[in-house]
Amino acid sequence: MASSRVRLNTAATEVQRTETSADLDEPVVKEEILPVIDFGLLTEGTPDQRSKAVRELNRACQDWGFFLLVNHGVPEKMREEMMDKFKGFFDLTPGEKGEYANTDVMNPIRHGTGFNTAVDDVRYWRSYLKTCVHPEFHSPTKPPGFRELLREYSTRIRDLGMKLLGGIWESLGLEESYMKEALELDSCYQVVVGNFYPPCPQPELATGLGPHSDHGLLTFLYQNGVDGLEVKHEGRWVRVKPSPNSYIVNIGDHMEIVSNGRYQSVLHRAYLNDRSTRLSIVSVVGASLETVVIPAPPLVSSDRPPAFRGMKYGEFVEYQQSHTLKEKSVLELLR
Ligand code: SIN
Ligand code: FE2
Repeated sequence: MASSRVRLNTAATEVQRTETSADLDEPVVKEEILPVIDFGLLTEGTPDQRSKAVRELNRACQDWGFFLLVNHGVPEKMREEMMDKFKGFFDLTPGEKGEYANTDVMNPIRHGTGFNTAVDDVRYWRSYLKTCVHPEFHSPTKPPGFRELLREYSTRIRDLGMKLLGGIWESLGLEESYMKEALELDSCYQVVVGNFYPPCPQPELATGLGPHSDHGLLTFLYQNGVDGLEVKHEGRWVRVKPSPNSYIVNIGDHMEIVSNGRYQSVLHRAYLNDRSTRLSIVSVVGASLETVVIPAPPLVSSDRPPAFRGMKYGEFVEYQQSHTLKEKSVLELLR
């Protein structure tokens, strides 16, 4: 396959991207609305409403692997303040932010500009701050109030994640208490990542984040009103448009393993624009890092043998973070 290398230089930075011609030629379908899941009906609806919501969850997870979560109960004030605090972090001086730059991929707090600059073959037009918030809570101490709010925010998202997982287990015909134990969810691994994408003068030559799938069970994404997410759907890249108060939720690699391939993690990427700064706050909720995750036994049969071998989740994460971010490459190793 032909490969082209494009390079963009500005006074501030240099962005470099390696693309295959297939990537460049792929048309992007503008703005599709993702399926919508009403979290309120799942948790507080009548039994009929809950059953309907579980069926919708099943369809969304199978057809898209992405959906919009509405009526999630995370207060707007908390979401907006969290966004402001992340902005406050990215506005710190390079020296202050530099305290959190490091090359250990499993370091619980990491600030950087790439995915893993030791191995990236692409330069990203992105800064990020990644913090591990569970089972141990880690946070920068600046800007003031960041740590306290992150603790509150991440607890809300974790609660949301556990309740949503309850609906997903039900949609797969799995017992919630069994799954909680099998994945050691009381010690679930949770990370929160703030992504900062400044306006890019030539967005078509750079990338925010290249095509990848997420390692966890579920990912929750909230953005500052500036769109920038593309999702691979039925072989095409689709730009998604969240409604203002919703979370974009997606299936991660470990849900694909647990569900024995019924719910697949979906490739997604972040595109750039030349006008507005985009901020996204992403939270990944997974099994315990100590758990060897395997396809759930009730979903394995002679007709459907296990699609993946088991691997300790912590090893999966470490491997993924120490290699070039490349589509579903780590998950494929387990087939
Ligand atoms: C991510 O996939 O981790 C972030 C994507 C985004 O910022 O939209
Ligand atoms: Fe992602």
